[in-house]
Amino acid sequence: MFGKLPVEAVSHDPNPVAPPAGATLEYGEYLVNVMDCKSCHGENLAGGAFPNPSVTATVPNITPGGDLAQWNEQDFFNAMKTGVTPRGNQMNPLHMPWKEIGLASDAELKAMWLYLQSLPKTATQTK
Ligand code: HEC
Repeated sequence: MFGKLPVEAVSHDPNPVAPPAGATLEYGEYLVNVMDCKSCHGENLAGGAFPNPSVTATVPNITPGGDLAQWNEQDFFNAMKTGVTPRGNQMNPLHMPWKEIGLASDAELKAMWLYLQSLPKTATQTK
């Protein structure tokens, strides 16, 4: 059902109610929740400080209030599969688990993309 993605393994919610799998915004919201994007990107996904204070990385805003406003779906796929963003930044896999996220199916990635694009345009959090 989840393809190669170890969704169960990274979920904090023992009993998440899964909407039907597919390239839908609802399923994307579910994936973003169970894959714990919010533990780093923040409850509103507008970024901030890295959860482990010994890591100096800042976590980008992934609402349309950040760089993702300029991305298209293909940019998102490329970033999750290769770790390279449209700005040419090679994301550090130790800070951003793109290698694991990139194992998601295209339908799952599309679902996540649809959800992220649907978020309110939120100003970037700095801490
Ligand atoms: C362990 C913390 C962590 C988790 C979990 C995490 N991210 Fe990230 N994410 C980061 C960090 C840190 C960066 C910046 C990486 C860099 O530049 O090296 C980043 C960058 C990104 C970017 C690029 C943003 C930009 O403007 O360049 C996207 C898109 C993204 N993450 C999406 C996600 C999604 C979707 C999930 C969940 C499926 C997720 N992230 C889970 C920490 C995390």
